[in-house]
Amino acid sequence: MSPDPRPGAAAAPGSEYARYMRTDELLSLQRSDAQLLHRDERLFQCVHQSTELWLKQAHFEIDHARALIEDGRLAAAQALLARARGCVEQTTGQLRLLESMSSLDFGLLRPALGRGSGLESPGWRALREAAQGLLAAFMARCEAHGLTLDELFRRGVDAPLYPLAEALLDLDQQVTIWRVKHLFVAVRTIGTGGIGTQGMPVQSLARLLEQRLFATLWEARAALAGAYGGAAHA
Ligand code: HEM
Repeated sequence: MSPDPRPGAAAAPGSEYARYMRTDELLSLQRSDAQLLHRDERLFQCVHQSTELWLKQAHFEIDHARALIEDGRLAAAQALLARARGCVEQTTGQLRLLESMSSLDFGLLRPALGRGSGLESPGWRALREAAQGLLAAFMARCEAHGLTLDELFRRGVDAPLYPLAEALLDLDQQVTIWRVKHLFVAVRTIGTGGIGTQGMPVQSLARLLEQRLFATLWEARAALAGAYGGAAHA
């Protein structure tokens, strides 16, 4: 491929900004123009790499939120969880860009992946693990307050841990929204009957939509919909 005429990649390499942000290293982490199998491979790498950065940030916020919950600093933890949710929202938004890539073009760049797949994403793995620690800290805090999940959701805004419980659900919901969007990127690109580079059918991605990071919270909250005998669509 001919060199990219756009400015940017070589801008002010020695500046204080470039040194602090390490832009030289950052901008050399994508395949060079000469290495690209197709021009959309740049977009593909950019979306994946920035997703990993945002998930690293989400993980950082979740770990701090866990420590704050352990210290009983619930409002501060809630603020960090809202930020973690925002990080996942960023990764969701950029999936839209991949929808602009044609299936034909994806087929041309696909050999560059080998057997590599988002299934191996370190960011998503770390986030899921961190979420388990977060839930454990939350449950321990409920116990310290003498609250069962049923009581917590029954009391709603009057329960001290209720806003935090809702922040956990918000985070979990955003992860599922990412999965919905990701499923559609996969459907649009390789089809409902498509098979991933790790051999997983696209249809299995639809089944993952039922997974929850904090299933016990969702169940306890929703169980109350029938607590007074009301119909679901009253
Ligand atoms: C054109 C774009 C994409 C396509 C066609 C695609 C397709 C697939 C397919 C078919 C799978 C099933 C596993 C396999 O056999 O490979 C999968 C899994 C996965 N992909 Fe993607 N993907 C795309 C973009 C992304 C992006 C940008 C990310 C962000 C890191 C990502 C992250 C994941 C994750 C985390 C899984 C595991 C399933 C889950 O946890 O929901 N994918 N993808």
